[in-house]
Amino acid sequence: MEQTLKISKIKDGTVIDHIAAGKALKVLSILKIDEKSNNYSVSIGIRVPSSKMSYKDVIKIENRNLEKFEVDKISLIAPDASISIVKDYEVTQKYTVELPARIVGIVKCHNANCITNVKEPVSSEFTLVSKKPLVIRCNFCERNMSEREILGSL
Ligand SMILES: Nc1ncnc2c1ncn2[C@@H]1O[C@H](COP(=O)(O)OP(=O)(O)OP(=O)(O)O)[C@@H](O)[C@H]1O
Ligand SMILES: [Mg+2]
Ligand SMILES: [Zn+2]
Repeated sequence: MEQTLKISKIKDGTVIDHIAAGKALKVLSILKIDEKSNNYSVSIGIRVPSSKMSYKDVIKIENRNLEKFEVDKISLIAPDASISIVKDYEVTQKYTVELPARIVGIVKCHNANCITNVKEPVSSEFTLVSKKPLVIRCNFCERNMSEREILGSL
């Protein structure tokens, strides 16, 4: 009996691989992929065996490119993820996401009185304090945000 089931290859699109096990659903929500997305095929693997990390999540999206701000958001959830661009069935570009030193406009400060939450045109801006555990500091009110707070605000 056949013991493996292969997901069919995509012709053109994006593969997000080496996502920490269990984090794929959060990545999908950041990419706004849900039951209303009807314009591209998406394959999702959750807790699939991986030699590198023992278990990982993986997402393959046909006919979709990622914007820079989306890659930055993914780096906050899955700092070891790799992104591969597939063209005509072949990987033409592959890179690992990188936590930016300055995180601009993608995380909402947890401090309700922070100027970025009070004055409409001021966009949020954080400095990376620590990667593991993930901690970032608001450049305006200097409040630290933990990984749990960051994930809740993305
Ligand atoms: N045509 C395709 N359709 C869907 N997924 C693909 C396609 N080509 C490559 N991939 C996936 O893209 C990712 C990167 O491909 P690559 O061949 O570089 O992987 P690899 O040799 O497993 O390397 P690594 O796991 O170290 O990133 C892998 O997850 C692979 O399964
Ligand atoms: Mg691999
Ligand atoms: Zn703040």
